[in-house]
Amino acid sequence: MADDTILITTTGRVATITINRPDKLNALNEPTRAAIVSALERFESDPDVRVVILTGAGEKAFIAGADIADFAGRTPVAQFRVMNDPRANAFEAADRFPKPIIAAVNGFCLGGGCEMAMACDIRIASDKAKFGQPEINLGLLPGGGGTQRLPRLVGLGNAFKLLYTGDMVTADEALRLGLVSEVVPAADLMTRVNALAAAIASKSPVALRYIKEALRASVRAPMDEGLRLERTLFGLVFASEDKVEGVEAFLQKRKPEFKGA
Ligand code: COA
Repeated sequence: MADDTILITTTGRVATITINRPDKLNALNEPTRAAIVSALERFESDPDVRVVILTGAGEKAFIAGADIADFAGRTPVAQFRVMNDPRANAFEAADRFPKPIIAAVNGFCLGGGCEMAMACDIRIASDKAKFGQPEINLGLLPGGGGTQRLPRLVGLGNAFKLLYTGDMVTADEALRLGLVSEVVPAADLMTRVNALAAAIASKSPVALRYIKEALRASVRAPMDEGLRLERTLFGLVFASEDKVEGVEAFLQKRKPEFKGA
């Protein structure tokens, strides 16, 4: 399935969204962000989709940032409207998406691209990927969550350095900083990410959903509140058929077949 700005493919229980503006290094304009939001809305209600992968078309870029052409001549009021329109807020849509979402970072991952990757649950990078928040070079600051998600991943000092300088870092440096979980040779990126996605897709969708909810709370709520939520969700998951299946399968020494119920 395709529209102008993204491509969607589905293999088994894994859906892949590919940003499809390679001539603009997959820069995120408003239609692209809106297409991501509506694709995630569809996947949320589709029980056959258990994990989503986000990547970029072409050899060069994951996402090279917001589409800078959109900024020229735009009024503050128009910019405020765009940024607060939930139909185009792909960052929040990925963060709130209640199923696992993995960024397969295949190249330049800059500005809004780095923010999009950080809004995903896991980031796996090609060894050719480059990361950065170059907004400072345009007289801007990150507007897609970079000032909040980056320090939570890499620590305050490293976030200050990246945001103050706008410098790009290599995939290996991003790994060292904790910005990505793994770096793999470029040619192996999608094989590795597809295998990871398939492994996660075989787990209980109910438990995955509650894990995401609890982990999201871990960076938002005070610890006691987060621990309380975790205990509540732990109790709640006992209501699922997947819990019965998982425990029975272990005791019967067989592989569980999770249904998401
Ligand atoms: N917005 C809009 N267009 C972009 C873009 C962006 N963020 N990033 C790249 N492009 C476009 C370029 O304008 C160019 O279009 P053109 O062929 O019509 O002129 C095309 O993508 C290819 O980019 P180019 O700059 O020629 O590639 P390069 O290999 O020389 O440089 C980058 C790659 C990533 C270093 C460079 O494109 C860049 O700095 N991009 C902007 C990154 C940025 O500041 N992002 C944060 C935005 S807030």
